[in-house]
Amino acid sequence: MCGIMGYIGAKKASPILIEGLEKLEYRGYDSAGVAILDEGKIQVRKFKGKLSILKLDVEENPIEGNMGIGHTRWATHGEPSDVNSHPHKSSDGKIVVVHNGIIENYMEIKEELKSFGYKFLSDTDTEVIAHLLEYYYNGDILEAVKKAINKIEGAYGLGIIHADNPDMLIAVKKDSPLIVGIGEGENFIASDIPAVLKYTRKVYILENHEMAIVKKDSISLMKTDGTPITKEVFNVTWDVEAAEKGGYEHFMLKEIYEQPKAIRDTLLPRLSNGVDIKMDSINISKEYMKNLRRIYIVACGTAYHAGLIGKDILERYVRIPTIVDIASEFRYGYPFIDQNTLVIVVSQSGETADTLAALRLSKEKGARALAITNVVGSSIARESDDVLYTWAGPEIAVASTKAYTTQILALTLLALDMATKNESIAHEDKECIIENLTHLPSKVEEILSNVENINSIAEEIYRSQSMFYIGRGIDYDVAREGSLKLKEISYIHSEAIAAGELKHGTLALIEEGTPVIALVTQDRLYDKTLSNIKEVKARGAYVIAIAKEGNSEIQKSADKVIYIPDVIDEITPVPSIVPLQLLSYYVAYKRGCDIDKPKNLAKSVTVE
Ligand code: G6P
Repeated sequence: MCGIMGYIGAKKASPILIEGLEKLEYRGYDSAGVAILDEGKIQVRKFKGKLSILKLDVEENPIEGNMGIGHTRWATHGEPSDVNSHPHKSSDGKIVVVHNGIIENYMEIKEELKSFGYKFLSDTDTEVIAHLLEYYYNGDILEAVKKAINKIEGAYGLGIIHADNPDMLIAVKKDSPLIVGIGEGENFIASDIPAVLKYTRKVYILENHEMAIVKKDSISLMKTDGTPITKEVFNVTWDVEAAEKGGYEHFMLKEIYEQPKAIRDTLLPRLSNGVDIKMDSINISKEYMKNLRRIYIVACGTAYHAGLIGKDILERYVRIPTIVDIASEFRYGYPFIDQNTLVIVVSQSGETADTLAALRLSKEKGARALAITNVVGSSIARESDDVLYTWAGPEIAVASTKAYTTQILALTLLALDMATKNESIAHEDKECIIENLTHLPSKVEEILSNVENINSIAEEIYRSQSMFYIGRGIDYDVAREGSLKLKEISYIHSEAIAAGELKHGTLALIEEGTPVIALVTQDRLYDKTLSNIKEVKARGAYVIAIAKEGNSEIQKSADKVIYIPDVIDEITPVPSIVPLQLLSYYVAYKRGCDIDKPKNLAKSVTVE
């Protein structure tokens, strides 16, 4: 995710751009920049770090000019740095581009353009667009844009300006949001509505394969092939704060709903023609696999819970012993690490102090370190030997949701890649998992489109003092994350127990009406967990089962059932956690809690 803002009108552009970008910082905040056209020349200012750095610079050295584009970045290709920041220029400095999204075939285009003599300054995918536009430009910028769009593949919201066309901004959209703000004698483009709300409540919302030529006094809308279109004006009725959350009441809910996209973004670039895995960013060879003796997965909090799922799939298909440890324990323990050990560190922020310390310790002892993280250029990403990014976009709510589901997918992809190199997975198994992964975004959409049942269950349990989550195998791992979600945002005491372990203590705590959330999604463990449900039921528990669609039998044993779409057992954790995230959210909401900022907790824990 990144944020785009553009202005054309009679006012000075730079303060308007920066103010707009401030409203988009939730979309990314590792660097920021603006490009302003003044007297036929485009000036670019861009800096690594928070938007405030750019703001200060522009205040100290103002830029004149009444049109321009700006960007706040969340790095994907190329670490955060001044040069990787947007806007990006063509070689002649006349065409400038800001971009939100990922250009999948940028390497190919880059090589081609290099062979024509184009020189690249940054590591970004975006820079190819600027050069490509220059390459196609033949006196008509619109024609150049159309040709460039035909060539690039992937997702893009684009803002483009050209020094020889000082009267227009061009906006192009595919799979990344983009709106046009309609002003009086001035117009805007932006990734999201909050950026323009100070100036106008009238916007056009661009759809895929649409573009806009935005002038001071006019807006022309068209398909990317040039066919003109008309659109209804959308009148915004929300306030700025609600608009930043995309109309959702909390960032957590917004992020829960962003999961289909986050899953798609993390998976699709790594699935080759839907039948194989391509992992460009990591370098694990067949040779390496021959000497690999053990794997550690080390992380904290939710990332640790994702690691537990990773262990299951790694041991099942790669057949190498895998130990999952909490980073603060690992670093003071006696781990078995040598050069035949792979240490996988999982961290949304890439900055968690204990995880970073565990990574450093592992490297000191000779292990190879592979990071799974959501933040490009973070300390953990920089210090690891290999990095596999979860492309979830910035996560703002303290309670992690989309980071967890994408971490599970990153671990699954990694396991499939390693198992292929290890020749330890049957071809049919691999194909079947990939096929199921491909359908995962739409399965999660299905859950999110039907939440009434979950909300009504929340209504029944939200006054509880204590709750339990049970399951076996990976159902138990998901139970742990479900329980954490509940306690961190609702402040209800909650524990997750391996279902078979109940009788060794926790059963004593089950009373009349105690909510027990029982996950029963694993076919081979189903009967066993069913017996445990009966145990708690016999002590008065109120049982809410999470089961696969089609299992009507479970209704006889549970008080309530939340169904998840039918997927193979290996990948149930993703659809299973989504209703549990929602359940926690609704419970916390009904209790009046501060959902996005729970008491005593922080999003990024950079102290030991
Ligand atoms: C904090 C956050 C959790 C997160 C954990 C690890 O406790 O509140 O949501 O899971 O840190 O953070 P990391 O950034 O390393 O994934």
